[in-house]
Amino acid sequence: LLDVTFTGAFGNFLVGLMKLDRVTVPEESDVDPAIAPCQNPKFGDYQCNNAMGLWSKVKGKGTQFKGHYEESPASEMVDSCSIAGPGFVNVVLSRPWIAKSIQKMLVDGIETWAPKLPVKRAVVDFSSPNIAKEMHVGHLRSTIIGDTLARMLEFSNVEVLRRNHVGDWGTQFGMLIEYLFEKFPSGEVANDQAIGDLEAFYKASKQRFDSDPVFKERAQRAVVSLQAGDEKYRKAWSQICEISRKGYEKVYQRLGVHLEEKGESFYNPYIPGALELLSNQGLIEESEGARVIFIEGKNIPLIVVKRDGGYNYASTDLTALWYRLNEEKAEWIIYVTDVGQRSTLRCSLLLEANELFGMFFQAAKRAGWLPAEDNKYPRASHVGFGLVLGEDGKRFRTRSTETVKLVDLLDEAKNRCKAALIERGKATEWTEEELEKTAEAVGYGAVKYADLKNNRTTNYTFSFDQMLNDKGNTAVYLLYAHARICSIIRRSGKDIEELKKTGTLDLVHPDERTLGLHLLQFAEIVEEACTNLFPNLLCEYLYNLSEDFTRFYTNCQVVGSAEETSRLLLCEATAVVMRKCFHLLGITPVYKI
Ligand code: ARG
Repeated sequence: LLDVTFTGAFGNFLVGLMKLDRVTVPEESDVDPAIAPCQNPKFGDYQCNNAMGLWSKVKGKGTQFKGHYEESPASEMVDSCSIAGPGFVNVVLSRPWIAKSIQKMLVDGIETWAPKLPVKRAVVDFSSPNIAKEMHVGHLRSTIIGDTLARMLEFSNVEVLRRNHVGDWGTQFGMLIEYLFEKFPSGEVANDQAIGDLEAFYKASKQRFDSDPVFKERAQRAVVSLQAGDEKYRKAWSQICEISRKGYEKVYQRLGVHLEEKGESFYNPYIPGALELLSNQGLIEESEGARVIFIEGKNIPLIVVKRDGGYNYASTDLTALWYRLNEEKAEWIIYVTDVGQRSTLRCSLLLEANELFGMFFQAAKRAGWLPAEDNKYPRASHVGFGLVLGEDGKRFRTRSTETVKLVDLLDEAKNRCKAALIERGKATEWTEEELEKTAEAVGYGAVKYADLKNNRTTNYTFSFDQMLNDKGNTAVYLLYAHARICSIIRRSGKDIEELKKTGTLDLVHPDERTLGLHLLQFAEIVEEACTNLFPNLLCEYLYNLSEDFTRFYTNCQVVGSAEETSRLLLCEATAVVMRKCFHLLGITPVYKI
């Protein structure tokens, strides 16, 4: 901040604050530069709303700000600045500079536009279904949102530990194992099909548990044997986990999502140690025979050791938090779960998930594991999201079963896309493989985008008709828009790689400039979407980009015009940025339609 100011280049100073040339405000500075895009493009591209605050920080109060501003030499980036009342500065970026920055990106790669984040390693805890239960639409949302956040962080050069915190531990395994022994006395499940539907198996064992006291007692003893590490029980447990895992894999494989499983069981051996640390800090108290942590402002404590001496969801999660901070050295831990009741039941506390995570984080702060301020690192964040609703406005279900089978849901999206492609005559034009790959990209992409484009905290309505519409704000529309740009470039017959090096990008027409400026804002948006954990910002950016492109393409002739080279480069830059957006959203781009 000081450096740029003392050279007197007010333009550089401002733009530096804008982060466009990656000059960052030193940490000691407690003044927010308050740089934002101009609300009204008539006044400029960006505005600084706090120039006085910044100036007084550097020069001391009462210094003439206006004089310095007028003296400042020109900056390559800035076309003009204007003062709009005390402390407000509007900046118009220079057109050649915008063009040059875009062309540089085309040559050096979009990675050069990656945001710089203040963390090196992060944990994203997402998907996290529960063994022997069907993975439901809530887990689908978590998988889609978590994957995008992980991708944005990875793009920003953060090492991401993608954690699947599966529910693979707890008292329910007693009844599952006992029931398995009843069905398969050898303790060996014949093959993957032998159990059939694991959800039905779960329900049947629960029914035995609830209705037969002798079975119930055996199940309770089975938990003890499992926890004591008895080989026969461990083996039965791992077979059940393995069957579930194969089911999840089918979903992950379709979605192209990669996760590393570290389930609840993984943290079990670390629980006593972590609780001891909390206890040494005086955080753990005795209450009605249980061991609990009281959290300020909450009237129910967090139970960490149950009355029977057993551990629960909270003991596991606190331990996982400790492990991630201390063993894995993560500076940011992000939990992606719904805001509602899901985690509640497992904790047998009447708390919403965000409240529950709030309590974990509070406990960790009191223990000194996390700083007191929420915006300081190491940091823990709960990324909550709303429900998936059916078109009837109720919780999303299919007619036949209680839960929706995610594999069937994804396959339906793909099959509908395939049918639409066949209807458009692609079956004769394309190979079967092309047809299949395109249907997958568009179908799965549509499901993801329909979820991600909403502010995650709200509920959203699942509708195939809406998400597969090729008009409006859908993945189908956007993927086609991208393919169309690729075909413009292809049909021009020009070697775009060659043009990147030899041609010059210019932004003469106002619609070209608008598109160019929007392209340039890509890095800012990714940074905002991932620091605030809102992927919908990136969707909004992508949709607006395609609109800006359409306006440009409608008003500016590309192929055969005098500006052909420059305009082809602008097409290419749009396609590159769109592809990066798709990639960050976990959507596979298509090149032909
Ligand atoms: N398995 C949990 C559920 O389905 C979600 C786990 C989320 N992660 C965590 N560390 N608690 O409700």
